[in-house]
Amino acid sequence: MPDLNDATRGRILYGGDYNPEQWPEETWTEDVRLMRQAGVTSVTVGVFSWARLEPAPGAYDFGWLDRLLDLLHGAGIGVVLATPTASPPPWLGHRHPETLPQAENGTTVWYGSRNQFCASSPTYRRHAAAITEQLAARYGAHPALTMWHVNNEYGTHCWCDETAAHFRRWLQDRHGTLEELNSAWGTAFWSQHYAEWDEILPPRQAQYIRNPAQLLDFARFTSDALLECYTAEHAILARHSPAVPVTTNHMPFWRGQDGWAWAQQQDVVALDIYPDPDNALGAQHGALVQDLARSLAGGPWMLMEQATGAVNWRPVNRPKPAGLNRLWSLQAVARGADAICFFQWRQSRQGAEKFHSAMLPHSGTGNRVYREAAALGADLDRLGPHVSGTPVTAETALLHDWDAWWASEQPGRPSELLDYQENVTAWHRALWEANHTTDLAHPAADLTRYRLVVIPSLYLLTDTALDNLAHYVRTGGTLVTGYFTGVADHQDRIRPGGVDARLREVLGLAAVHQWWPLNEGETLRCTGTEDFHGTLWAEELETAGAETLARYADGELAGLPAVTRHGYGRGTAWYLSTRPEPDALRALLTRAAREAGLHPAAEQLPAGVEAVRRGELLFLLNHGPQQASCELPGHWEDLLTGTPGTGSITLERHGAAVLRPATP
Ligand code: GLA
Ligand code: GLA
Repeated sequence: MPDLNDATRGRILYGGDYNPEQWPEETWTEDVRLMRQAGVTSVTVGVFSWARLEPAPGAYDFGWLDRLLDLLHGAGIGVVLATPTASPPPWLGHRHPETLPQAENGTTVWYGSRNQFCASSPTYRRHAAAITEQLAARYGAHPALTMWHVNNEYGTHCWCDETAAHFRRWLQDRHGTLEELNSAWGTAFWSQHYAEWDEILPPRQAQYIRNPAQLLDFARFTSDALLECYTAEHAILARHSPAVPVTTNHMPFWRGQDGWAWAQQQDVVALDIYPDPDNALGAQHGALVQDLARSLAGGPWMLMEQATGAVNWRPVNRPKPAGLNRLWSLQAVARGADAICFFQWRQSRQGAEKFHSAMLPHSGTGNRVYREAAALGADLDRLGPHVSGTPVTAETALLHDWDAWWASEQPGRPSELLDYQENVTAWHRALWEANHTTDLAHPAADLTRYRLVVIPSLYLLTDTALDNLAHYVRTGGTLVTGYFTGVADHQDRIRPGGVDARLREVLGLAAVHQWWPLNEGETLRCTGTEDFHGTLWAEELETAGAETLARYADGELAGLPAVTRHGYGRGTAWYLSTRPEPDALRALLTRAAREAGLHPAAEQLPAGVEAVRRGELLFLLNHGPQQASCELPGHWEDLLTGTPGTGSITLERHGAAVLRPATP
């Protein structure tokens, strides 16, 4: 199978989405000249071009795209060519209203924006396949083509009748018989027993709390239905050009798609990343989703979209201050990206995104944003040969699973304040601040190469995952487990004892007798070998062999264990029954990491300086508010400046260094 290396060929790809259909052809010549000046090597074309390519059903117009691809190729710019199937033209919805999605309450989601398709609609799929076939046949051998890009940010949901029929077929595959389905969904509850398959619907708007197992299966189904759309287009493209890698771009940490399942079907994992430049923890969000992208890819990945400055979809949209775009782009390279691209090349003057930043802003090349984009192109050109294709070193894994996410965020739970993504972010932040580079991993994945594995919270764990965790600890691993983990099985049936019995044995716990969620802003003092305040959640916990490292000091749970540690086989398993405040969580995870024999990517750095090792290189990234001076052992050369040095290096605000070990 082709992969990202087939497109990068030892470089870091640099560029962005290019939407030339919004401009007269005279502008294209200027675009290409400025792209070259800015070091652009790759543009993504055609993402939203369906109405232009097929103005009427079966009537195609490829002339403009022929000219564009030839122009780009003549300038040495590679093309990531998209299938335009994320935004069907009005004629499709007008002639075939059944291709339009329906919301939970049965209302139609109309055209006039984008993404108005039902993934289960055979008519939509037929038209999507036809335009894909045309593109693949025409451009599969075009010399400008480096990669295929399918659709865009798959993320639609639909509850229509066609979806209902598709959902039933999917359920028949998964559960076999109606009896099995009734058992898996626990339909004895509230008289929900199904006597015929035709009675089953997607979970539409209802009077009160809907069946949680049905909601869980619907989340799984929706991810699979969209994936079928992806793989159908992928197969057409691969048939015409088997050597050209195929990708689709995901929204970062997106709830709607099981990233682990999707990544297996993609030649290249590509992510769109938009941290808020106005958020002090924007860089941490970047690091988290970059770690996720690398882990999904199992190696280098593509940053398909980011913004040079402001986006247009937050309530308040701030631009990036000088240097931040470069810093966050280099952060992505440090964490495994071999392609750094933007939405978009030239800022639109019309349409919903005319206030969204671009590489070439409305005010043109005199704009700082353009100058910085051009300088970044030069930086990446220098780094490419040293970086492209090399691995990132991570000895810690954070376990993440969409099934657990879906099952844990349904109504009718002990606390609505439990937010899966917020919790993952908090745990990842603790490791990030301590410069422990972290992979994300599926709970059933092979974990043996990690010294430390952490579970912020996985409400749902399958039998396979539980056996895997036990094996990991027994054979010498260190596992730190957060609260509300191992509570339910694969169909959201409660496992008795508060935590599954196998996991309790690993953790040295007798039972979790009560969940004791805390109110917003409420904290519980905990004392022991660590003193801290717990937030969000607490538990009435009984140990069976585990040592208690901290106890609840006040309130109803006073005296009961809060944090425990247990030797199991050759390994160690910790349990945190509350969420320590950020500094304390960092201290606890740092301690567990130290006891597991783990070292951060670099020691003794000033706060705010991120360190990541990729191949033989050390990336230093200054996210702090001012200049930072870092003490380093030995001799090095900064590949960004070509400067050699010994000992300390000073990073400006938003400054970065990419250091290669050197001899004096
Ligand atoms: C109501 C209903 C019960 C049950 C309880 C739960 O009283 O009648 O069926 O749902 O709420 O509190
Ligand atoms: C997403 C989409 C792009 C564009 C950007 C704006 O990433 O894929 O088409 O809408 O958001 O931030």
